[in-house]
Amino acid sequence: MELKDSYTSGHSENVARYAAALAREMGLSTNESDEVEIGGILHDIGKIGSSEDILLKEGRLTEKEFETMKAHPKNAVKILSPVGLSENILKIVLHHHEHCDGKGYPDGLSREQIPLGSRILMVADTIDAMTSDRPYRQAQPVTKLAGELKKYSGPQFDPDVVSAFERLLEKIGPDFFRHQ
Ligand SMILES: [Fe+2]
Repeated sequence: MELKDSYTSGHSENVARYAAALAREMGLSTNESDEVEIGGILHDIGKIGSSEDILLKEGRLTEKEFETMKAHPKNAVKILSPVGLSENILKIVLHHHEHCDGKGYPDGLSREQIPLGSRILMVADTIDAMTSDRPYRQAQPVTKLAGELKKYSGPQFDPDVVSAFERLLEKIGPDFFRHQ
């Protein structure tokens, strides 16, 4: 993925790092935390099937482009199915764009229906998206990130995952949440 889109350099590793820390903070077992971490590394692999025109586009995606982009979780499962990963990891990857209010994709699942690992990835993905430079804006400060997570805690993010983020921030400080 990084060969195609150097702008996402480090994104997967950062998401995996945040996801593993959130999973451990929430008291998940070592095995469950490991699955969430592996899901973090692999979550966007389906974007390999997307055209560079869309991946590297600087402005807003058109509705049609966004529809194409929305295929990436299912494409990830197609790519990963023959690899021999656990069913849990495939589900975590498949549902990483679902929102708690059911308005996400690919299946419009609501909070309890979404695998916990996917709900953790949704927050981890947002942490890295907001704290890294983008073509259209610079990295945002962690205070802004915390405000954004709080604002959409409930409809988009799982409130339990947001609470875990707040505890981690309190315990280990903002430097941990810096894009590497
Ligand atoms: Fe994604």
